[in-house]
Amino acid sequence: MNFHAKVAVVTGASSGIGRATALSLAQAGATVVATARRENLLEEVSAACRVHTQDSCHIAGDLADKTFAEHLVEETVRRFGRIDILVNNAAVPMHHPLYEISAEQAEDVMRINFLSCLWTTFAAIPHMLLQAESGGGVIVNVSSFAATVVPTYETIYAASKGAMNGFTRGLWNDLAGSGIHAVLIIPGPIDTEIWDKVEDENAYRGKKFPAQLVADEILLAIAERRFEVTVPRRNLQLVTARLFATVLPALVRKGVARMNPVKPQWVRDARARARKGLRMGLGDRPR
Ligand SMILES: NC(=O)c1ccc[n+]([C@@H]2O[C@H](COP(=O)([O-])OP(=O)(O)OC[C@H]3O[C@@H](n4cnc5c(N)ncnc54)[C@H](OP(=O)(O)O)[C@@H]3O)[C@@H](O)[C@H]2O)c1
Repeated sequence: MNFHAKVAVVTGASSGIGRATALSLAQAGATVVATARRENLLEEVSAACRVHTQDSCHIAGDLADKTFAEHLVEETVRRFGRIDILVNNAAVPMHHPLYEISAEQAEDVMRINFLSCLWTTFAAIPHMLLQAESGGGVIVNVSSFAATVVPTYETIYAASKGAMNGFTRGLWNDLAGSGIHAVLIIPGPIDTEIWDKVEDENAYRGKKFPAQLVADEILLAIAERRFEVTVPRRNLQLVTARLFATVLPALVRKGVARMNPVKPQWVRDARARARKGLRMGLGDRPR
C-alpha cells in the first residue's frame, strides 16, 4: 500500500506506540486522525503530523464510550470521505493480584482494550467495503505478548488482548475477499509510559524496545499486507517463552510466579473475605 492520500485513524496516539505510529504514517504521506483523551498531547502530535500532511488532525475522547468510538470513525469519513487505515492501539494496563480486582474494574479494561477496537472496526467495515475499488482498507489491532505468556497479576489485561487476538484472527478469515485486510501486532516489552501506570515495583524490569520499532513494523505490515507480527521479530526471549508456554506451561507458571509471587497470605485473606460473603475487589461492600 502506498500511504499517500490515505486516511488513517490511530487510537492511543497521545503517547508511546500510538504516537510513533501516527507520526510515521504522516511522514509516509497519510492524513492522520489521532485520538486519545489527553487533548494537549494530541494537539502536539497532530501538529507534528501536519508538518508532513496538512490535513492531519485529532479528535479527543474516551474510547470506553461506544458512542465516541463510533463517532470517531463517522467523523473521519465525514471530514475526509474515507477511512483507509484503522490502528486500534489504545489500551490501559492492569497489573494487580486477581483477588483485589472487582468485576467492574475488569469490565472497564475489557471496554477500553478490546470493545473499543470492536466498535471502531464495526463502524469502519461498511466504509471500507464501499472503498473496495480504491484500495479497501486495513485494520491493525495492537495486542500484547502478555496474552501469549501471561504474567501473574495480568489476567484481565491478558484477557482483553486474548480477545483481540481471537477477534483479529477471525477478521482475517471472515474478511477474505472483501478488500479489507486485518493485521495483528503482538509487541513484547516496549519502552513507553504504560509501565509507569503500573503500581508495582516487581513488574518486568528486563530489556525494553523502542516504540518506533513497533511503529515501523505496523507500517511494514500495512504496506506488505502481513497478518501477524510479533515485535521484535525473531527475538530469542520471546520465541523461547512462547515455546515453553506451549510445551511446558507448569514451568512457565513457576517462572512468572518468581517475578510476581502469589502470596499465600493473599489467598488466606481472600478466603476470609469470602467467608464474610464479600465480593472480589470491593473491600467491605456486601455481595
Ligand atoms: N509498552 C509495552 O511494553 C507494550 C507491550 C505489549 C503491548 N502493548 C500495547 O501497545 C499499545 C500502546 O501502548 P503503549 O505502550 O504505547 O502505552 P501508552 O503510552 O500508555 O499508550 C496508551 C494510549 O492509550 C490511550 N488511552 C488509554 N485509555 C484510553 C481511553 N479510555 N480512551 C482513549 N484513549 C485511551 C492513552 O491516551 P490517553 O491517556 O491520553 O487517553 C495512550 O495514548 C497498547 O495497546 C498496549 O497494550 C504495549
